[in-house]
This record gives sequence, C-alpha cells and structure tokens, in this order.
Amino acid sequence: TTKNLFLLPGDGIGPEIMAEVKAVIGFINEAGLADFQTDEGLVGGCAYDAHGRAISEEDMAKALAADAVLFGAVGGPKWDAVPYDVRPEAGLLRLRKDLGLFANLRPAICYPALAAASSLKPEVVEGLDILIVRELTGGVYFGEPKEIVTLENGQRRAVDTQLYTTGEIERIARVAFDLARTRSGRVASAEKRNVMKSGVLWNQVVTKVGADEYPEIKLEHVLADNCAMQLVRWPKQYDVIVCDNLFGDILSDVAAMLTGSLGMLPSASLGAPDPATGTRRALYEPVHGSAPDIAGQGLANPIAMLGSFAMALRYSFGLIDLAEKLDAAIAEVLDSGTRTKDIASEGSNVVSTTEMGAAILKAFKAK
Ligand code: NAI
Ligand code: MG
Repeated sequence: TTKNLFLLPGDGIGPEIMAEVKAVIGFINEAGLADFQTDEGLVGGCAYDAHGRAISEEDMAKALAADAVLFGAVGGPKWDAVPYDVRPEAGLLRLRKDLGLFANLRPAICYPALAAASSLKPEVVEGLDILIVRELTGGVYFGEPKEIVTLENGQRRAVDTQLYTTGEIERIARVAFDLARTRSGRVASAEKRNVMKSGVLWNQVVTKVGADEYPEIKLEHVLADNCAMQLVRWPKQYDVIVCDNLFGDILSDVAAMLTGSLGMLPSASLGAPDPATGTRRALYEPVHGSAPDIAGQGLANPIAMLGSFAMALRYSFGLIDLAEKLDAAIAEVLDSGTRTKDIASEGSNVVSTTEMGAAILKAFKAK
C-alpha cells in the first residue's frame, strides 16, 4: 500500500540534509521495497518569506493528512526580527499542537566508531543504546497559571505550574511500555516523588499501567536527579526511560551528549493512536537546528536526518528490516572512517553532505 510522507525541509541546512533522505526514498521506491508518495511544503522562515506565516493552512492540512511528516529545521538570523507569532519556531509548535504529538522519542546510540570521541570513557558508552520517552504537551511548560506578577511590596513573583492528569500519564507510560516490548523489556520511570505531588501521581499511574497491562515488563523507578547522575556514571544500566516534559528535556540532552555530535541525533514525536486504525500521527526531525553558520557550504552532517527517517520506517511504517538496514549502513560508513567535518577526528576521510549521503545510500543498497 502507498505510504504518504509529507516533507518539510525548512531553513538553513534543512533542505541540504532532506535531499539525502529523498535520495534514499527514491531508491526504496525504485527497488520496490516500499511505495512512498512524497509531497513537500514550506515551514519556518521560508514559509514566512513566501506568505507571511510560519506554515500555511494548506501545508498544515497536508501534514494532518500524511502518514508521517519529515521535518528538517527552521530559523536563522534573517528572521530574528519577525513578529513572535509568525516566527519560524511557531511552525514547529503549531505542527506539534495540531498533530497532538505528546510523546517525544530521543534515542541515544553510541556508534562503536565514535566511542573514542565521547567525553566519557569509551567503555562507558561503547554499545550504548537507550531511548528517552519524554511527555511533550503537558507539565510545567504549559500549566496555568503561568505569569509574573508584581506584589504589594514591589517584588515580582514568577509562577509556573506543573500539572498532570492520570490520562496524560497513562498514555505516555503506554508508549514507553510498548517500546520496551520491542527492545529489552525494561522501563525506568524518572520523577521526583520525594518533593513533587506530580511525581507521586506519576509514580502511582506508571506503576498501575505496568502492573495491569504490561506485567512482563520490568519497571524501575528512579528519582530524576539520580537518573541524571546515573546517565553519566553508567548509562548502559538503562533501556527505555520515561519522564515528564521538564525532566525529559534535560535528561534527553544529557543522554544525547554521551554519544556525540548534534549532527547525529534523530528524534520522533508521536500522537495518540487512531481508535479505528491504530495508526498514529507522527513527525520525525533531527534534534539540531538550522545551523545557519554552515548552511549552503556542504558541511552539514545528514546522519541525524537520515536517522530520523529510519525512525519513521520503524515506528510509522513497521518497515523494521529497512530501518535496521539504514541504521546499519550509517554505522558501517562511520566504521570505514568516512566523516563529515563535525565528527571528524585524526585520520578521518572528511566528506561533504552529499558525499556522506551517497556513501550511506551505497552501503544501504548493498544490504
Ligand atoms: P543549531 O543546532 O542549528 O547549531 C548548533 C551548532 O551545531 C552550530 O555550530 C552548527 O553548525 C552545528 N550543527 C548543527 N547541526 C549540524 C549538522 N547536521 N551537521 C554539522 N553541524 C551541525 O543550533 P543554534 O545555532 O542554536 O540555532 C540555529 C537556528 O536554528 C536558530 O534560528 C534556532 O532558533 C534554530 N533551531 C531550530 C530547531 C528546530 O528547527 N527544531 C532546533 C534548534 C534551533
Ligand atoms: Mg532541550
């Protein structure tokens, strides 16, 4: 059956790295490995230039109708002065909101070839493969009241509100448990039940979902601050880590940096399953931004974008075999010493964006 992909390359290096994904999609279609139908739209600064909005209603409708959205990156100095509600980032926020993307998946994988370049000891990160599942639409970033008020004594007081309902916790817990089923069968839930009511509820709800629906999964609870320490001390003790929006923001950045450069990090954001079909809305994007400092120079590392497409193959289309082959192709090319400048070390064969993309495609074709 035909699978609909909506591509939003965006600004800066976005179009350069998306071009490498398009080449892979082209090969998959030609070889008859799957049947992808792609359409492309504008998001971010380029959309603002074209029609004064960070994303048009027409492109929003296409994103809503697609089986998955592939997103490059948005923003750049050119748009620093545009009004707040049409700034490039507003396009991504609108997509996340309207697609109902409440689960953010951030893998932290250490490629053997890059273990030596980690800021930690190679044996601590070698073979690392963990997945952080972050709640993306609730918690302290969105809870009301959210304000700065002036008190009678002239001081000002800032208020942010951490709010979670049982339903919000249940659905993110299910995402984590479902993923653990396809991996090592272990989930660590991180919160701060010792000082936060939301942590108490989080702990109770995750425990109940685990016991009622996933008795075969081994669930562990860890205080979020301890989790940060453990991630740096011995990250391989974890497989899937599930946490709220705030802790997930921080823990996923910690985990990411165990493994290497920003140019290597993919992500997925998933919505709720459709009750009729079981399919989910989803958006796949590299963790990095539009890198205006290197845009247009052939210096961008396309691996984060290609890895994001591999996540789409896996999570939106169930094409596990193709996803594994693409991931393996990336690892193989890194093993061979071929590197973009951001991940180069002594003795590397330093290549451009298109050369890296071509090397990965060649390795993928050979699998
Ligand atoms: P950035 O992630 O774009 O770049 C940070 C540094 O990492 C830069 O030196 C850049 O050259 C390098 N880098 C990033 N991706 C790379 C890749 N694939 N290959 C090689 N090197 C890479 O973050 P920065 O500089 O803070 O933001 C630049 C613009 O991107 C801003 O307008 C920001 O608002 C936007 N941004 C957009 C995001 C998105 O679209 N999701 C996320 C983060 C920032
Ligand atoms: Mg962050």
